[in-house]
Amino acid sequence: MTATIIDGKAIAEKLRLEITAEVARLKDQGRKLPGLAVVLVGNDPASEVYVGSKARQTDASGMRSFEHRLPAETSQQELLALIARLNADDDIDGILVQLPLPPHIDTDRVIEAVDPAKDVDGFHPVNAGRLMRALPSLVPCTPLGCMLLLNSVQPSLRGLHAVVVGRSNIVGKPIAQLLLQADCTVTMTHSRSRDLPTLCREADVLVAAVGRPEMVRGDWIKKGAIVIDVGINRLAVEGRPKGRLVGDVAFAEAREVAGAITPVPGGVGPMTIACLLKNTLQAAKARRRL
Ligand code: GUN
Repeated sequence: MTATIIDGKAIAEKLRLEITAEVARLKDQGRKLPGLAVVLVGNDPASEVYVGSKARQTDASGMRSFEHRLPAETSQQELLALIARLNADDDIDGILVQLPLPPHIDTDRVIEAVDPAKDVDGFHPVNAGRLMRALPSLVPCTPLGCMLLLNSVQPSLRGLHAVVVGRSNIVGKPIAQLLLQADCTVTMTHSRSRDLPTLCREADVLVAAVGRPEMVRGDWIKKGAIVIDVGINRLAVEGRPKGRLVGDVAFAEAREVAGAITPVPGGVGPMTIACLLKNTLQAAKARRRL
């Protein structure tokens, strides 16, 4: 059996079109366009690429994007002052501070400074807590995208055993909450888990979010399982300056066993920014009671 390939690029495109149509409706009704502020401190090359894509896709959806690129030496106080201004600015519905921040800045202080109603990353403890209590909240973009991909091949996940590999605040922990809300039995695993291959072989749904290239092998996967690969790892390849992108799952092996699997690139990656747009629209509607 070879797995169904879950086409994240196509699913993200469809979501973006739906968002664009809804933004156009708001505009036709004479309402203010949703606005997203993206803040980048320093010049990490990967972050610069992400921030550029976020701004471009925000504009393409018809929403307004506001980019704030600050030098690496920006003080914590200056960054907190900018966030306070964005919190108070009625044109801004969403605020995203690109991570990682330079080491002299306390990331938790910054995350907690963002108004939870504008926290389109869903990183603020208020949103994390609301997610844990299954209350309406802004949900982190990558886990939200993973759930949409899962639902594209399996609309009901009820009773399935989901195994999450990785316990980050950005992906592992929130996706475990979303899987629980979808009535899965959830096992959280991580780098210190004993006998990871055996735990993974129990999974009907396997989510790999550890950041280790091709760690999950084909023989860790139950026949017919749905595999969501969150990893984006760049492997050095001779003669290719940019190397090769691989996930946390050994794709060629895994596709021979899995029922459905996301590729890297073209799986989870494209969903993240589409879900950022979704969250920005959600935040705008909630703030304006639309
Ligand atoms: N850096 C890597 N992923 C993310 C993300 O989802 N949000 C933000 N703000 N920074 C990131």
